[in-house]
Amino acid sequence: MGMGGRRNLDRSGQPSDNPDARDGPGPRRSRRRDPVHHLRFLHPAMKRIFSGVQPSGNLHLGNYLGAIRNFVALQADFDCIYCVVDQHAITLWQDPAVLRQRTREVTAGYLAAGIDPKTSIIFNQSQVAAHSQLAWVFNCVTRIGWLNRMTQFKDKAGKNREKASSGLYVYPNLMAADILVYKATHVPVGEDQKQHLELTRDIAQKFNNDYGVEFFPIVEPLIQGAATRVMSLRDGAKKMSSSDPSDAARINMTDDADTVAKKVRRATSDSELLPDPSVVTGEGQFTAAFREARPEAANLMTIFAALTDRSLAEVVADYEGKGFADFKKALTDVAVARLGPMGEEMKRMVSDTGYVDQVLHDGAERAAARAQPIIDEVYDIVGFLRH
Ligand code: TRP
Repeated sequence: MGMGGRRNLDRSGQPSDNPDARDGPGPRRSRRRDPVHHLRFLHPAMKRIFSGVQPSGNLHLGNYLGAIRNFVALQADFDCIYCVVDQHAITLWQDPAVLRQRTREVTAGYLAAGIDPKTSIIFNQSQVAAHSQLAWVFNCVTRIGWLNRMTQFKDKAGKNREKASSGLYVYPNLMAADILVYKATHVPVGEDQKQHLELTRDIAQKFNNDYGVEFFPIVEPLIQGAATRVMSLRDGAKKMSSSDPSDAARINMTDDADTVAKKVRRATSDSELLPDPSVVTGEGQFTAAFREARPEAANLMTIFAALTDRSLAEVVADYEGKGFADFKKALTDVAVARLGPMGEEMKRMVSDTGYVDQVLHDGAERAAARAQPIIDEVYDIVGFLRH
């Protein structure tokens, strides 16, 4: 059916032509036209966090400083749901036994970092069917044009797009479902997930518009800034990643002290002395020029500041004019002190799976209980006959 000329005639059949919804995600989209803006401020006490980590690789320092550490802190002010997104992981091939193992490892990472499974909910995505159920509805809300603009799909699918799984393509719809099936209001994520959250907002808005309801909230991203963006130890221009072929490029949460020391010692640096405080801006970040000129120095100092909970300005002042040798020694000490006990606890929990599995089981039950009334309501709104 041609859709071009029907935009204003169409009150019932083709809500996809609704002018409020058709733009889709993208930088041109403004927040001014947000029709349910006020929902955000209705119940200040009802601040609900959802976030997720994929069990598709080793947990590393980037996951810890960029995500999990913040998840821990947010528990004080928010009602928090933390998910191990195993369904997202299989958008790229995963060996089944390894997937199970990594699901436990991410859970153990959450727990060892200090997420309290009594106050927060920890579970794995596949065990709460409501995620998939809502994702299907969203597959029918999202426009293909919106998905075609997703940069992460382009990156992950690479050149051979024809061979990418269709799951990888609709991945953002599942992510929106993860969040909205709990009507989460705030989502802590890294910079790279910003576009997916924009899409989540667009999906919520279009659903609300299409069905004439004010049902889904418009979520707020809590973007972790450059200060917690951890880069590769080998190349300061690349993100630290579990898919980097070189294990030396990352510090895994379960690395032992010797391994951490070795990786820090061998981390790429440069031949200059450490900088003076003029490289730190008024907002406490490194200047773009400094990050550009000396990405490795910026990365190592950022990691040091994050691990010691100190400001960059303080760290830079302490090491001004010193060489990397001293600094790397100090960095090793703080990394070992901070990660060592966590890594040990993770290893204990992963080898004796009883506790982790119990946490996941209990979490899935509580998550399902929260999601069920919402999915029931969605089904009613959409017109799925329930009996
Ligand atoms: N896409 C996220 C990532 O790769 C993981 C994720 C899935 C997520 N569902 C989510 C993050 C919901 C936040 C909220 O990092």
